[in-house]
Amino acid sequence: NKIVLAYSGGLDTSVSIKWLQEKFNAEIIAYSANVGQDDNDWNQIKEKALKAGASKVYIDDIREEFIKNYAFNSLKANGLYEGKYPLATALSRPLIAKRMVEVAHQEGAEAVAHGCTGKGNDQVRFDVSFKALDPDLEIIAPLREWEFKSRGEEIDYAKKHNIPVKATKESPYSIDSNLWGLSVECGELEDPWAEPPLDAYQWTANPEEAPATPLYLTISFDQGEPIKLNDRYMSPVELVEKLNDIGAEYGIGRIDMVENRLVGIKSREIYETPAATILLEAHQQLEDLTLDRETAHYKRLISEKYSELVYNGLWYSPLRSALEAFIEDTQKQVTGKVKLKLYKGQCVTVGRKSPYSLYQFDLATYDENDSFDHSSAKGFIKLWGLPGQVYSQVQQKNKDT
Ligand code: ARG
Ligand code: SIN
Repeated sequence: NKIVLAYSGGLDTSVSIKWLQEKFNAEIIAYSANVGQDDNDWNQIKEKALKAGASKVYIDDIREEFIKNYAFNSLKANGLYEGKYPLATALSRPLIAKRMVEVAHQEGAEAVAHGCTGKGNDQVRFDVSFKALDPDLEIIAPLREWEFKSRGEEIDYAKKHNIPVKATKESPYSIDSNLWGLSVECGELEDPWAEPPLDAYQWTANPEEAPATPLYLTISFDQGEPIKLNDRYMSPVELVEKLNDIGAEYGIGRIDMVENRLVGIKSREIYETPAATILLEAHQQLEDLTLDRETAHYKRLISEKYSELVYNGLWYSPLRSALEAFIEDTQKQVTGKVKLKLYKGQCVTVGRKSPYSLYQFDLATYDENDSFDHSSAKGFIKLWGLPGQVYSQVQQKNKDT
């Protein structure tokens, strides 16, 4: 009787180890995914899981797969939930779920468990992914079921069972992070009118205190994938880590929003997504240069739907893979370079070029090299406006009679 538990090292999941053990008389295998969380000490997390009673601990470095097959897919889709949130947390859950299912099979476990609450999106993303990947696995979410009514009761339980509890005061925020971004909720943020306190931001410099001179960057893409920073080839993980560092220094990627959770509630969240913000800006600008108008406009609809699916936990769905096939096809010409300027919290594109650029100087220019056929504009506009003209005439006739 074995259960694989998604383990973060925090109080909830540490208490979950013992609680699951007692309640189901099971052996608990702690699974911790390294998706590039901020300053996690993996040895310490392992120690903590064992002390709490885990029989085995997996520390799984899935950063490369996360960036290559999840974050960069979303980048090609220009994935932003409600036009703002780059989906950092949402993208990590299906991959963590997939790895947990693999570990469960390897270990012969019958159940998987996670420490999500019953009010959030994360429980949905985990449960729906587990079900899609192995419908026979049992799913347990201790926080949805257990008897503890407050943090104090959890702490008492932890102390009773010698589960190490942090001596320092817990942060008032609930934080989740990975290489694509950091999500912060709770504490003073629960008042949507309250400006986020300075300490709510974990990664990025306050834009007001960011360097006084701008920084220029160039990013090169090959078929929609970023491959170079300032003419240096970098691996996906290296590139994202580097852009997180640089972006954070310049205060890039702070997002403050009220969003619609799948479970029906509105929630105020802040995010810090330096690399994602920079890459999404650059990628969109390169598409603006290289995609024909019809594809570009249609892709916005696809992007909206894709982001919604990912946010709502439907990564492992036929629609997501069908949309990705469309997106992949559009990326064939998205090759080239974008020049960006970072300055006090702003990341703006100042230049772009591509061998597939559809921008034609002789068509666009207003100088003497203009090759645009002005005379055909007249006939084009006449037909373009024809339906409106007829409509108006008929209206007029009816008014007169
Ligand atoms: N609201 C964001 C989302 O649904 C962030 C969730 C953060 N999760 C967490 N366990 N703190 O993607
Ligand atoms: C949670 O409930 O685990 C965090 C919030 C969320 O998933 O949206």
